[in-house]
Amino acid sequence: MKIAITGHSKGIGQALANKLQDMGHTIVGFSRSNGYDVTAPGVIEKIVLQSAECDMFINNAPGKYAQAELVYEIANQWQGQQKTIVCITSRMAVSWTVKHPELGYRTTKKALDLAVEHVRNMWSWPRVCLVRPPSINTERSAWVGKQLNAINNNNLPEGDNGFKQMEPDEFANILVPMLFHERVFMNEIWMSAI
Ligand SMILES: NC(=O)c1ccc[n+]([C@@H]2O[C@H](COP(=O)([O-])OP(=O)(O)OC[C@H]3O[C@@H](n4cnc5c(N)ncnc54)[C@H](OP(=O)(O)O)[C@@H]3O)[C@@H](O)[C@H]2O)c1
Repeated sequence: MKIAITGHSKGIGQALANKLQDMGHTIVGFSRSNGYDVTAPGVIEKIVLQSAECDMFINNAPGKYAQAELVYEIANQWQGQQKTIVCITSRMAVSWTVKHPELGYRTTKKALDLAVEHVRNMWSWPRVCLVRPPSINTERSAWVGKQLNAINNNNLPEGDNGFKQMEPDEFANILVPMLFHERVFMNEIWMSAI
């Protein structure tokens, strides 16, 4: 399969890209470091065009409302085609009790969740899987942990956000087989590390 993924250069995206590549898939990656800032003008259009021939799109890179925009644009391009979009959203979009240092973060993920719901109502293909990962040990979560410590005065060790964490590779090893299950399509995957 040919699989497009945003945010493939680090963290969750990199682990997913590595795992999929090891399985023999071809990866088309889009990150700021290779010239695709999803928040920059015209970049979403470029990503959509370059993903036209792919079979799966993994909508992973954060960036304002880019994930919501991308799910609409990719689904519109692929309407009626038996392809899959995977959206990495957040548990934070549905749990408002935990503090988060980025004020708009929940709202952008909520927008993504709503865009997915809307796309599913418009077209049965492409199908869309929404993933709410556990806390995963990445550069981003270390930054979030640091900010949360400061906000909550928690005195946790550097990078510890107080949640049980999982390594990106471990997460990829669990998620990827679910995405390729022969008998079941996972509409939503919600995970917590134990
Ligand atoms: N880590 C967690 O605990 C956790 C939990 C729930 C959900 N998530 C979600 O999982 C996704 C990945 O997070 P992560 O923890 O793996 O973060 P990360 O380690 O910081 O990696 C983010 C990836 O996205 C790319 N990226 C960031 N901003 C971008 C932009 N504006 N345009 C294009 N690419 C961009 C980065 O590459 P460049 O720097 O090269 O652009 C990198 O490849 C995010 O959507 C996040 O909200 C993470």
